Amino acid sequence: EAATTYEAENATISQGAAESNHTGYSGTGFVNYDNVTGSYVEFTVTAVTAGQATLTFRYANGTTTNRPMAIAVNGTTTNRDFPGTGAWSTWQDTTLTTTLNAGANTVRATATTANGGPNLDRLVL
Ligand code: GCU
Ligand code: CA
Repeated sequence: EAATTYEAENATISQGAAESNHTGYSGTGFVNYDNVTGSYVEFTVTAVTAGQATLTFRYANGTTTNRPMAIAVNGTTTNRDFPGTGAWSTWQDTTLTTTLNAGANTVRATATTANGGPNLDRLVL
């Protein structure tokens, strides 16, 4: 099935803000997570059929410190590293293979350290 892009700036944001002050994002900007544990972005993504799917997160981390996040897919969590990308304007993809339900699925990416998450551009399914 064709890829669908879900922009982080259009998702549900808890303790973060849509910003556009670093170049290279898709859509109208990205989410700057507040630098606190528990800040999150939650997407609702649609799968046509149930089964394995690859989620691609595009992010930037202009620090040299990992900004790990808990990725919860319909409540089942996987911990994922978001290491430094070299600059806030340098974006990288990280992929997560998961199992989705047919129809709507909830994908929440929550910062697990007091540094907050990386800047998050989008999720592609
Ligand atoms: C800088 C940067 C932000 C980033 C923040 C951070 O302020 O401009 O985009 O989110 O650092 O360290 O989280
Ligand atoms: Ca931040």
